[in-house]
Amino acid sequence: MQKRKLIAGNWKMNGRGAAAAALATQIVAGVKKLKDGPEVALCPPFPLLSTVGAALAGSDVTLGAQDCSPHKDGAYTGDTSADMLKDAGCHYVILGHSERREYHKESDDVIARKVAAAHGAGLHVILCVGEKNPSTPDDVKEAILRAQITNGLPECAHAGNTVIAYEPVWAIGSGLTPTNKDIAAAHAMIARLLPERARGLRILYGGSVNDKNAAEILAQPGVDGALVGGASLKAEGFLRIAAGVVRG
Ligand code: PGA
Repeated sequence: MQKRKLIAGNWKMNGRGAAAAALATQIVAGVKKLKDGPEVALCPPFPLLSTVGAALAGSDVTLGAQDCSPHKDGAYTGDTSADMLKDAGCHYVILGHSERREYHKESDDVIARKVAAAHGAGLHVILCVGEKNPSTPDDVKEAILRAQITNGLPECAHAGNTVIAYEPVWAIGSGLTPTNKDIAAAHAMIARLLPERARGLRILYGGSVNDKNAAEILAQPGVDGALVGGASLKAEGFLRIAAGVVRG
């Protein structure tokens, strides 16, 4: 089955009103020009969702958030529910990013509850998984990915509402990437580890994707798109990454 690739921009904790609107507007204009291009999603921080959402209105570019609460409404100061994200126009939510796992001590159990909350609100989830260390032996890598996938995906997760992003933690923001062969092998490993109901879901690669390496990475077997951090903050480079799918 030929899957439409997904290029998602993870803005992390970056951006301010007017500049964020301008960036989103430039991306919308560039994506419109791509023939047979990938699906493109932008995931700004919470305060920019409505600004970026307004810039994306009427376009094919979808909106995503970077986290949600496992809870519905209520006394959870500082949290944002999945229903609120849906109400704000989000289609996607990134969950289980390594920066959330590390800085907020998110366990697979909490992540699974967030995934369930997101699906309950009708959001599509981009679940991030990946090993921390570049020299992780294959059998250990498999055990890490198996735990993150098995424990992080509740029963409600299936190929129609979930995307996995394979993000080796050591590759994030470091300028380092695994070899193309290692990326293809990790994607094949993840595909094998998926429960039956999630078979065939899209598996993105993330970690130091830029406009120089994207076309080659996106051409690897089993790579169904990319989750792009730093390189998603400049329209020209991000659009070149999206264009790499067309070429690749
Ligand atoms: P990076 O981040 O592209 O800046 O390495 C990717 C991510 O953390 O999703």
